[in-house]
Amino acid sequence: MKIAVVGTGYVGLVTGTCFAETGNTVSCIDIDEKKVDSLKNGKITIYEPGLEVIFERNLSQGRLSFTTDLKEGIEGAKIIFLALPTPPGEDGSADLQYVLKVAEDLGPLLNEYAVIVDKSTVPVGTAEKVKAKVAEGAKVDFDVVSNPEFLREGVAVDDFMKPDRVVIGTTSEKAKKLMETLYTPLVRQGNPVIFMDEKSAELTKYAANSFLATKITFMNEIANMCELLGADVDAVRKGVGTDSRIGKRFLFAGIGYGGSCFPKDVQALAKSAEQVNYDFRILKSVMDVNEDQKTKLVPRIKEYFNGDLTGKTIAIWGLSFKPYTDDIREAPALYNIEQLLAAGAEVKAYDPEAMENVRNQIGEKITFCDDAYSAVNNADALLVATEWPVFRTPDFDKLSTLLKNKVIFDGRNLYTLEEMKELGFTYISIGRET
Ligand code: UGA
Repeated sequence: MKIAVVGTGYVGLVTGTCFAETGNTVSCIDIDEKKVDSLKNGKITIYEPGLEVIFERNLSQGRLSFTTDLKEGIEGAKIIFLALPTPPGEDGSADLQYVLKVAEDLGPLLNEYAVIVDKSTVPVGTAEKVKAKVAEGAKVDFDVVSNPEFLREGVAVDDFMKPDRVVIGTTSEKAKKLMETLYTPLVRQGNPVIFMDEKSAELTKYAANSFLATKITFMNEIANMCELLGADVDAVRKGVGTDSRIGKRFLFAGIGYGGSCFPKDVQALAKSAEQVNYDFRILKSVMDVNEDQKTKLVPRIKEYFNGDLTGKTIAIWGLSFKPYTDDIREAPALYNIEQLLAAGAEVKAYDPEAMENVRNQIGEKITFCDDAYSAVNNADALLVATEWPVFRTPDFDKLSTLLKNKVIFDGRNLYTLEEMKELGFTYISIGRET
């Protein structure tokens, strides 16, 4: 099948590349000439494990192409995906200007029936708006479908190729058939393609992300209680997670959730609620708790140094919002850096992938180090902000020698209390005894 993907950001590029891998001919369109040039020349523009190899294969075998020309890109496409940014507007609601502009441009360009698919995370009612915009200029029949994406950065290829489920919002039989054909190769293990109306599909995405953010936040609050009561959040996590109604995943307490999705989507759903005069209290609390959680170790660091961080050097391990990505959007590490610098500390950091992005955002306000040990060399304390595997089993003897004080603030609970006690470290983590 010939398909088109408008927008070559994270979701667009993964979608386009993976659908080419299942044998479709995919044309990706983007207004950013530099990006399109780079992609055409085989240079991938995002860091995502496993993507590059299938990108190169499909590009060289001619199933994947890139253009800045919308007309050329959608020529002959039976399905046109919109994978465009929906950033939070000033009031927190999703800004639909990019989606609606492309919808408007698409109308007059359609020569034959096509399915237009909202892949971006968009508020309930967007499919209707897109339909109205396309209809303004369309001379042929078309359908607009909502098909939210559930992939996680870092494991996006796997999530795309082996989805837990595929949600397709449409009431058109013709669109249903085409979408089913496209997705069949991805659900061979029997994972469901769930059909529903457009609005329910749109809300499903927000509900899923907000539920997961709530699950994490709930555990973060339990962790805060553990600290006050002398319990251990790791034990509690195991105790509750083995209940199949709760599930083991997304129960890890830490220094809050970040990234380009959870913070934006929780906020957007809260905004949607406000717009229909519904007081969505849980979401407000989730945002509130996460705000505090992100920097909850900073007061502990200050306390350790008797309230004065002037002239102290804090080493930070991990800058991306989670491992296996260079994405630093809403990364807790950055909020910690901001507060540590404001308190007069110096910061030396190491991250396997995200240092360039941080440098582009904050410049040389902190020292970027070549590896984990250079970051701790002569530092007064270590703060672990992201659970990259490389930080999981460090050489603690080396750490003891390099650090000025044997103290670790661990925002991701990477080490066991027994090990830390045995090695003589002061170890402050989340939801566990210090
Ligand atoms: C999230 C969803 O998991 C995807 O299903 C969804 O498609 C995507 O948003 C999106 O809307 O595009 P992502 O933001 O890539 O994916 O990252 P996650 O792996 O979900 O992690 C989100 C945040 O939660 C991270 O900051 C992570 O550190 C934090 N987290 C996750 C915890 O603090 N504890 C956990 O147990 C799990």
